[in-house]
Amino acid sequence: MVHADTHPHQPPDRSALDSLLRSAVERLAAGGLVAFPTETVYGLGADATNAAAVQRVFAIKGRPANNPLIVHVGDVAMARQVTASWPGEAQQLAQAFWPGPLTFVLPKHPSLPTGVTGGGPGVAVRCPDHPLTLELIAMFGRPLVGPSANPSSRVSPTAAAHVRSYFSEQEVLVLDGGACSAGIESTVIEVRPSLPPRLLRPGVVTLQEIAAALGIPVATIADAAQVQPKQRTTAHAHPLASPGLLERHYAPTMPASLADAAHISVALQRSAPTVAALLLTPPAAAPAPGHLIIPMLSDARGYAANLYAALMRADAAGVDQILVEHPGPDRADGVWQAVLDRLTRATNPNADEQG
Ligand code: TXA
Ligand code: MG
Repeated sequence: MVHADTHPHQPPDRSALDSLLRSAVERLAAGGLVAFPTETVYGLGADATNAAAVQRVFAIKGRPANNPLIVHVGDVAMARQVTASWPGEAQQLAQAFWPGPLTFVLPKHPSLPTGVTGGGPGVAVRCPDHPLTLELIAMFGRPLVGPSANPSSRVSPTAAAHVRSYFSEQEVLVLDGGACSAGIESTVIEVRPSLPPRLLRPGVVTLQEIAAALGIPVATIADAAQVQPKQRTTAHAHPLASPGLLERHYAPTMPASLADAAHISVALQRSAPTVAALLLTPPAAAPAPGHLIIPMLSDARGYAANLYAALMRADAAGVDQILVEHPGPDRADGVWQAVLDRLTRATNPNADEQG
Protein backbone atom coordinates (compact mmCIF):
# COMPACT_ATOMS: atom_id res chain seq x y z
CA MET A 1 0.00 0.00 0.00
CA VAL A 2 2.07 2.83 -1.34
CA HIS A 3 0.08 5.81 -0.15
CA ALA A 4 -0.52 4.67 3.42
CA ASP A 5 0.64 6.89 6.28
CA THR A 6 2.40 4.04 7.96
CA HIS A 7 4.10 4.38 11.35
CA PRO A 8 6.94 3.56 11.23
CA HIS A 9 7.42 4.20 7.53
CA GLN A 10 7.31 1.02 5.43
CA PRO A 11 9.21 1.34 2.15
CA PRO A 12 6.94 0.19 -0.68
CA ASP A 13 8.14 -2.66 -2.90
CA ARG A 14 9.96 -1.94 -6.15
CA SER A 15 7.07 -2.40 -8.57
CA ALA A 16 4.75 -0.26 -6.45
CA LEU A 17 7.47 2.37 -6.35
CA ASP A 18 7.95 2.25 -10.12
CA SER A 19 4.26 2.75 -10.74
CA LEU A 20 4.13 5.59 -8.20
CA LEU A 21 7.12 7.26 -9.88
CA ARG A 22 5.44 6.88 -13.28
CA SER A 23 2.27 8.54 -11.96
CA ALA A 24 4.38 11.32 -10.48
CA VAL A 25 6.17 11.89 -13.79
CA GLU A 26 2.81 11.96 -15.63
CA ARG A 27 1.46 14.47 -13.12
CA LEU A 28 4.55 16.68 -13.57
CA ALA A 29 4.45 16.41 -17.36
CA ALA A 30 0.82 17.56 -17.29
CA GLY A 31 1.85 20.65 -15.29
CA GLY A 32 0.61 19.19 -11.99
CA LEU A 33 2.11 19.13 -8.51
CA VAL A 34 4.02 16.34 -6.75
CA ALA A 35 5.31 16.58 -3.18
CA PHE A 36 8.72 14.93 -2.95
CA PRO A 37 10.81 13.84 0.04
CA THR A 38 14.22 15.36 0.71
CA GLU A 39 16.67 15.09 3.60
CA THR A 40 15.51 18.53 4.84
CA VAL A 41 11.73 18.90 4.42
CA TYR A 42 9.18 17.81 1.79
CA GLY A 43 9.16 19.93 -1.36
CA LEU A 44 6.15 20.98 -3.42
CA GLY A 45 7.36 19.98 -6.87
CA ALA A 46 6.46 21.20 -10.32
CA ASP A 47 8.23 21.34 -13.69
CA ALA A 48 10.61 24.30 -13.33
CA THR A 49 10.58 24.83 -17.10
CA ASN A 50 6.76 25.15 -17.25
CA ALA A 51 5.66 28.69 -16.32
CA ALA A 52 2.02 27.68 -15.76
CA ALA A 53 3.01 24.81 -13.45
CA VAL A 54 5.26 27.19 -11.50
CA GLN A 55 2.34 29.62 -11.10
CA ARG A 56 0.24 26.75 -9.69
CA VAL A 57 2.83 26.31 -6.92
CA PHE A 58 2.60 29.98 -5.93
CA ALA A 59 -1.20 29.85 -6.03
CA ILE A 60 -1.64 26.72 -3.90
CA LYS A 61 0.87 27.94 -1.29
CA GLY A 62 -0.58 31.45 -1.19
CA ARG A 63 2.99 32.62 -1.75
CA PRO A 64 3.77 36.17 -2.89
CA ALA A 65 4.94 36.12 -6.53
CA ASN A 66 8.19 37.90 -5.63
CA ASN A 67 9.35 35.15 -3.23
CA PRO A 68 11.50 32.92 -5.49
CA LEU A 69 11.50 29.12 -5.56
CA ILE A 70 14.45 26.74 -5.22
CA VAL A 71 15.17 24.68 -8.33
CA HIS A 72 15.98 21.03 -7.55
CA VAL A 73 18.39 19.29 -9.89
CA GLY A 74 19.68 15.74 -10.21
CA ASP A 75 23.31 16.69 -10.76
CA VAL A 76 25.72 19.47 -11.70
CA ALA A 77 24.96 19.06 -15.42
CA MET A 78 21.30 19.92 -14.77
CA ALA A 79 22.29 22.79 -12.47
CA ARG A 80 24.33 24.26 -15.32
CA GLN A 81 21.23 24.21 -17.55
CA VAL A 82 19.33 26.58 -15.24
CA THR A 83 22.22 28.94 -14.43
CA ALA A 84 23.89 31.51 -16.69
CA SER A 85 27.34 30.91 -15.20
CA TRP A 86 28.96 28.24 -13.08
CA PRO A 87 31.83 29.79 -11.14
CA GLY A 88 34.57 27.81 -9.41
CA GLU A 89 32.91 28.35 -6.01
CA ALA A 90 29.75 26.65 -7.25
CA GLN A 91 31.76 23.67 -8.45
CA GLN A 92 33.61 23.45 -5.12
CA LEU A 93 30.39 23.69 -3.11
CA ALA A 94 28.64 21.10 -5.26
CA GLN A 95 31.58 18.73 -4.88
CA ALA A 96 31.69 19.20 -1.13
CA PHE A 97 27.98 19.16 -0.31
CA TRP A 98 25.83 17.70 -3.11
CA PRO A 99 23.64 15.83 -2.98
CA GLY A 100 22.83 17.57 0.29
CA PRO A 101 21.23 20.41 2.23
CA LEU A 102 23.05 23.34 0.60
CA THR A 103 21.36 25.66 -1.89
CA PHE A 104 23.26 28.28 -3.80
CA VAL A 105 22.08 31.32 -5.67
CA LEU A 106 23.67 32.09 -9.05
CA PRO A 107 22.71 34.15 -12.11
CA LYS A 108 19.67 32.55 -13.72
CA HIS A 109 19.69 31.08 -17.22
CA PRO A 110 17.57 33.20 -19.58
CA SER A 111 15.51 30.16 -20.61
CA LEU A 112 14.20 29.57 -17.07
CA PRO A 113 10.69 31.08 -16.57
CA THR A 114 10.98 34.41 -14.71
CA GLY A 115 8.26 33.32 -12.28
CA VAL A 116 10.69 30.80 -10.72
CA THR A 117 12.98 33.57 -9.47
CA GLY A 118 10.23 36.01 -8.53
CA GLY A 119 11.37 38.26 -11.36
CA GLY A 120 14.92 38.46 -9.95
CA PRO A 121 18.24 37.81 -11.71
CA GLY A 122 19.38 34.96 -9.43
CA VAL A 123 18.23 31.35 -9.26
CA ALA A 124 18.59 29.13 -6.19
CA VAL A 125 19.69 25.57 -7.03
CA ARG A 126 20.09 22.47 -4.95
CA CYS A 127 20.59 18.74 -5.46
CA PRO A 128 18.57 17.03 -2.71
CA ASP A 129 19.88 13.93 -0.95
CA HIS A 130 16.99 11.50 -1.18
CA PRO A 131 17.07 8.42 -3.44
CA LEU A 132 13.38 8.59 -4.37
CA THR A 133 13.57 12.23 -5.42
CA LEU A 134 16.82 11.75 -7.33
CA GLU A 135 15.06 8.93 -9.20
CA LEU A 136 12.06 11.16 -9.84
CA ILE A 137 14.22 13.95 -11.29
CA ALA A 138 16.20 11.47 -13.40
CA MET A 139 13.00 9.89 -14.78
CA PHE A 140 11.39 13.26 -15.45
CA GLY A 141 14.60 14.59 -16.97
CA ARG A 142 13.93 18.18 -15.95
CA PRO A 143 14.52 20.31 -12.86
CA LEU A 144 11.75 20.75 -10.30
CA VAL A 145 10.83 23.86 -8.37
CA GLY A 146 10.37 22.86 -4.76
CA PRO A 147 9.39 25.23 -2.00
CA SER A 148 8.60 23.51 1.27
CA ALA A 149 5.25 21.72 0.86
CA ASN A 150 3.24 23.88 3.27
CA PRO A 151 0.90 26.83 2.84
CA SER A 152 2.87 30.10 3.07
CA SER A 153 4.10 30.91 6.62
CA ARG A 154 3.04 27.52 8.09
CA VAL A 155 5.35 24.86 9.54
CA SER A 156 7.34 22.95 6.89
CA PRO A 157 6.42 19.25 6.54
CA THR A 158 8.95 16.57 7.51
CA ALA A 159 6.65 13.59 6.83
CA ALA A 160 4.21 12.65 4.07
CA ALA A 161 1.33 12.83 6.56
CA HIS A 162 2.15 16.50 7.24
CA VAL A 163 1.89 17.29 3.53
CA ARG A 164 -1.46 15.46 3.35
CA SER A 165 -2.74 17.50 6.29
CA TYR A 166 -2.16 20.63 4.19
CA PHE A 167 -3.20 19.57 0.67
CA SER A 168 -5.60 17.03 -0.87
CA GLU A 169 -4.30 14.15 -3.02
CA GLN A 170 -6.20 15.72 -5.97
CA GLU A 171 -4.17 18.91 -5.58
CA VAL A 172 -0.81 17.33 -4.76
CA LEU A 173 0.41 13.76 -5.34
CA VAL A 174 2.61 12.86 -2.37
CA LEU A 175 5.67 10.63 -2.79
CA ASP A 176 6.14 9.12 0.65
CA GLY A 177 9.86 8.80 1.35
CA GLY A 178 9.59 8.54 5.13
CA ALA A 179 10.61 11.11 7.73
CA CYS A 180 13.16 13.75 6.65
CA SER A 181 16.51 13.15 8.33
CA ALA A 182 17.81 16.73 8.70
CA GLY A 183 14.39 18.21 9.46
CA ILE A 184 14.97 21.90 8.70
CA GLU A 185 15.38 23.66 5.37
CA SER A 186 18.66 23.82 3.46
CA THR A 187 21.35 26.41 4.03
CA VAL A 188 21.04 29.10 1.32
CA ILE A 189 24.17 30.88 0.15
CA GLU A 190 24.56 33.53 -2.51
CA VAL A 191 27.63 33.11 -4.73
CA ARG A 192 28.73 36.61 -5.81
CA PRO A 193 31.29 37.64 -8.39
CA SER A 194 34.32 39.36 -6.74
CA LEU A 195 32.67 39.30 -3.31
CA PRO A 196 32.69 36.64 -0.61
CA PRO A 197 29.69 34.32 -0.73
CA ARG A 198 26.90 35.44 1.58
CA LEU A 199 24.75 33.29 3.83
CA LEU A 200 21.05 34.02 3.22
CA ARG A 201 19.49 31.30 5.38
CA PRO A 202 21.27 29.18 8.00
CA GLY A 203 20.79 25.41 7.88
CA VAL A 204 22.48 22.17 8.86
CA VAL A 205 25.43 22.92 6.58
CA THR A 206 27.15 25.52 8.74
CA LEU A 207 28.99 28.70 7.82
CA GLN A 208 32.22 27.15 9.13
CA GLU A 209 31.82 24.09 6.90
CA ILE A 210 31.18 26.26 3.83
CA ALA A 211 34.16 28.51 4.58
CA ALA A 212 36.37 25.43 5.08
CA ALA A 213 35.24 23.92 1.76
CA LEU A 214 35.88 27.16 -0.14
CA GLY A 215 39.01 28.19 1.73
CA ILE A 216 37.68 31.76 1.99
CA PRO A 217 35.53 33.50 4.61
CA VAL A 218 31.78 33.68 4.08
CA ALA A 219 29.75 36.81 4.79
CA THR A 220 27.45 36.21 7.75
CA ILE A 221 23.75 36.40 8.29
CA ALA A 222 24.30 39.65 10.21
CA ASP A 223 25.38 41.31 6.95
CA ALA A 224 22.32 39.91 5.23
CA ALA A 225 20.02 41.00 8.08
CA GLN A 226 20.95 44.61 7.45
CA VAL A 227 18.87 44.60 4.27
CA GLN A 228 15.82 43.19 6.04
CA PRO A 229 13.89 46.38 6.93
CA LYS A 230 14.17 47.73 3.38
CA GLN A 231 13.01 44.41 1.96
CA ARG A 232 9.97 44.41 4.18
CA THR A 233 8.74 47.79 3.01
CA THR A 234 9.15 46.82 -0.64
CA ALA A 235 8.22 43.17 -0.30
CA HIS A 236 5.38 43.16 -2.79
CA ALA A 237 6.92 45.46 -5.36
CA HIS A 238 10.35 43.98 -6.12
CA PRO A 239 12.10 40.64 -6.09
CA LEU A 240 13.41 39.90 -2.61
CA ALA A 241 17.12 39.31 -1.96
CA SER A 242 16.02 36.36 0.15
CA PRO A 243 12.58 36.26 1.67
CA GLY A 244 13.85 33.64 4.09
CA LEU A 245 15.02 36.73 5.96
CA LEU A 246 11.48 37.94 6.48
CA GLU A 247 10.37 37.71 10.04
CA ARG A 248 7.67 35.11 10.43
CA HIS A 249 7.91 31.66 8.90
CA TYR A 250 7.49 28.08 9.96
CA ALA A 251 4.75 29.12 12.36
CA PRO A 252 2.11 27.06 14.16
CA THR A 253 -1.45 28.46 14.21
CA MET A 254 -1.39 28.35 18.04
CA PRO A 255 0.31 31.18 19.97
CA ALA A 256 3.89 30.01 20.52
CA SER A 257 6.68 31.53 22.56
CA LEU A 258 10.21 30.87 23.70
CA ALA A 259 10.73 30.69 27.46
CA ASP A 260 13.27 29.39 29.95
CA ALA A 261 12.85 26.07 31.74
CA ALA A 262 11.90 27.66 35.09
CA HIS A 263 9.11 29.71 33.53
CA ILE A 264 7.72 26.69 31.70
CA SER A 265 7.88 24.59 34.88
CA VAL A 266 5.68 27.12 36.66
CA ALA A 267 3.20 27.21 33.75
CA LEU A 268 2.98 23.41 33.85
CA GLN A 269 1.97 23.43 37.54
CA ARG A 270 -1.14 25.46 36.73
CA SER A 271 -4.06 23.69 35.07
CA ALA A 272 -4.90 26.57 32.76
CA PRO A 273 -4.08 27.79 30.20
CA THR A 274 -3.13 24.40 28.80
CA VAL A 275 0.33 24.17 27.30
CA ALA A 276 2.22 22.03 24.82
CA ALA A 277 5.85 22.28 25.95
CA LEU A 278 8.90 21.47 23.82
CA LEU A 279 11.45 20.75 26.54
CA LEU A 280 15.20 20.20 26.70
CA THR A 281 15.07 20.09 30.52
CA PRO A 282 12.64 17.64 32.17
CA PRO A 283 10.00 19.48 34.27
CA ALA A 284 11.06 20.03 37.91
CA ALA A 285 7.76 18.61 39.24
CA ALA A 286 4.99 16.50 37.74
CA PRO A 287 2.88 18.71 35.47
CA ALA A 288 -0.84 19.28 36.08
CA PRO A 289 -3.10 17.16 33.82
CA GLY A 290 -4.04 18.50 30.40
CA HIS A 291 -0.60 19.65 29.29
CA LEU A 292 1.42 17.97 26.55
CA ILE A 293 5.14 17.45 27.17
CA ILE A 294 7.32 16.91 24.11
CA PRO A 295 10.92 16.08 25.08
CA MET A 296 13.51 17.38 22.62
CA LEU A 297 16.98 15.97 21.92
CA SER A 298 19.86 18.00 23.33
CA ASP A 299 22.16 17.71 20.31
CA ALA A 300 21.53 20.25 17.56
CA ARG A 301 21.06 17.80 14.70
CA GLY A 302 18.68 15.62 16.69
CA TYR A 303 16.74 18.70 17.79
CA ALA A 304 16.49 19.99 14.21
CA ALA A 305 15.38 16.60 12.88
CA ASN A 306 12.38 16.56 15.24
CA LEU A 307 11.53 20.25 15.54
CA TYR A 308 8.82 20.61 12.90
CA ALA A 309 7.12 17.32 13.78
CA ALA A 310 7.06 18.51 17.41
CA LEU A 311 5.58 21.89 16.44
CA MET A 312 2.94 20.22 14.27
CA ARG A 313 2.06 17.80 17.07
CA ALA A 314 1.84 20.67 19.54
CA ASP A 315 -0.29 22.66 17.12
CA ALA A 316 -2.73 19.78 16.67
CA ALA A 317 -3.03 19.04 20.41
CA GLY A 318 -5.85 21.47 21.13
CA VAL A 319 -3.95 23.25 23.93
CA ASP A 320 -4.11 27.01 24.52
CA GLN A 321 -0.47 27.77 23.82
CA ILE A 322 2.89 26.33 22.84
CA LEU A 323 5.93 27.03 25.01
CA VAL A 324 9.36 26.20 23.63
CA GLU A 325 12.29 25.99 26.02
CA HIS A 326 14.98 28.39 24.85
CA PRO A 327 18.10 26.35 24.05
CA GLY A 328 20.14 28.88 26.06
CA PRO A 329 23.41 30.74 25.50
CA ASP A 330 25.52 27.57 25.28
CA ARG A 331 23.58 26.41 22.25
CA ALA A 332 24.03 29.19 19.70
CA ASP A 333 26.68 28.10 17.19
CA GLY A 334 26.81 25.74 14.26
CA VAL A 335 23.55 23.90 13.67
CA TRP A 336 22.04 25.57 16.76
CA GLN A 337 22.21 28.86 14.83
CA ALA A 338 19.81 27.40 12.26
CA VAL A 339 17.58 25.94 14.97
CA LEU A 340 17.41 29.30 16.78
CA ASP A 341 16.61 31.04 13.50
CA ARG A 342 13.60 28.74 13.00
CA LEU A 343 12.50 28.98 16.65
CA THR A 344 12.64 32.77 16.54
CA ARG A 345 10.51 32.89 13.41
CA ALA A 346 8.01 30.28 14.66
CA THR A 347 7.45 32.26 17.86
CA ASN A 348 7.40 35.75 16.37
CA PRO A 349 3.93 37.30 16.75
CA ASN A 350 4.62 40.05 14.16
CA ALA A 351 3.17 38.26 11.17
CA ASP A 352 3.74 41.14 8.81
CA GLU A 353 5.10 39.06 5.97
CA GLN A 354 4.61 35.52 4.81
CA GLY A 355 6.88 33.23 2.83
O1 TXA B 1 15.54 22.48 2.16
C1 TXA B 1 14.98 23.24 1.38
O2 TXA B 1 15.56 24.22 0.90
C2 TXA B 1 13.53 22.92 0.99
C3 TXA B 1 13.52 21.59 0.27
C4 TXA B 1 12.17 21.22 -0.28
O3 TXA B 1 14.49 21.59 -0.73
N1 TXA B 1 12.97 23.97 0.23
C5 TXA B 1 12.66 25.18 0.76
O4 TXA B 1 12.07 26.07 -0.12
O5 TXA B 1 12.86 25.46 1.92
P1 TXA B 1 11.34 27.40 0.36
O6 TXA B 1 10.77 27.97 -0.87
O7 TXA B 1 10.40 27.07 1.44
O8 TXA B 1 12.50 28.30 0.85
C6 TXA B 1 13.44 28.78 -0.11
C7 TXA B 1 14.20 29.94 0.45
C8 TXA B 1 13.31 31.13 0.64
O9 TXA B 1 13.77 31.82 1.78
C9 TXA B 1 13.54 31.91 -0.63
O10 TXA B 1 13.29 33.27 -0.47
C10 TXA B 1 15.02 31.64 -0.89
O11 TXA B 1 15.20 30.30 -0.49
N2 TXA B 1 15.29 31.74 -2.31
C11 TXA B 1 14.77 30.99 -3.31
N3 TXA B 1 15.20 31.42 -4.51
C12 TXA B 1 16.03 32.45 -4.26
C13 TXA B 1 16.77 33.33 -5.10
N4 TXA B 1 16.75 33.21 -6.42
N5 TXA B 1 17.50 34.28 -4.51
C14 TXA B 1 17.53 34.39 -3.17
N6 TXA B 1 16.84 33.61 -2.31
C15 TXA B 1 16.09 32.66 -2.86
MG1 MG C 1 9.31 27.32 3.10
